[in-house]
Amino acid sequence: MRTGGDHYFSSTPGALSDPKEVDVLLPDVDLTLWTDAGVFSHGRLDAATRIFLETAPAPPPTGVLLDLGCGYGPIALVLASRSPKAQVLAVDVNERALGLVRRNADRNGLRNVTASLPEDVPEDLELAAIYANPPIRIGKQAMREMLLHWLSRLAADGVAYLVVGKHLGSDSLAGWLEEQGFEVVRMASRNSYRTLEVRHGKDVA
Ligand SMILES: C[S@@+](CC[C@H](N)C(=O)[O-])C[C@H]1O[C@@H](n2cnc3c(N)ncnc32)[C@H](O)[C@@H]1O
Repeated sequence: MRTGGDHYFSSTPGALSDPKEVDVLLPDVDLTLWTDAGVFSHGRLDAATRIFLETAPAPPPTGVLLDLGCGYGPIALVLASRSPKAQVLAVDVNERALGLVRRNADRNGLRNVTASLPEDVPEDLELAAIYANPPIRIGKQAMREMLLHWLSRLAADGVAYLVVGKHLGSDSLAGWLEEQGFEVVRMASRNSYRTLEVRHGKDVA
């Protein structure tokens, strides 16, 4: 997905702002969110994200929950709504996306959400869970480095859920994560999107 000369993962998109609302309507959550040009999934809820929000296990009730690659924030804001006592951290390299997350949190009265650039997150922050529709299109190597960076911050009993299209390499990503020492459960797929459940291997304290 490109907008003019931008990628959706540009840090400061050059595309002219074009705000559009999206309803995120789930059995337990009803949010109206702003989206914008230059941010992933402008004017709609991505198909993989919708399936993920409908099928991923409930987030832990407390602790820090990371939405890695938050875009305009549909995952972060649903996590914040489902776990009001948790602290939700929404991280993206795209500053316009972070602005949308802040606006969307305000609009929906969700006070437990912080939106940050990756480099602004304290190094010693421990994560109870990670939920992500990760940026496959940044390239395999960059995405693997990004995942290792954040998975290493999971608490010993922490868990990550990653939704990835089978056509975008969910099965090879699962195999590679296992080679890195993680335990991976390939959860049931729907419409060619698979959620991977990732935990530290048993030999990791
Ligand atoms: C597939 S989109 C998902 C967006 C949003 N979570 C959703 O479901 O609509 C992936 C997001 O990752 C962001 N991204 C790209 N590289 C990143 C990085 N190194 N660290 C954090 N986020 C990144 C992109 O800007 C994009 O917003």
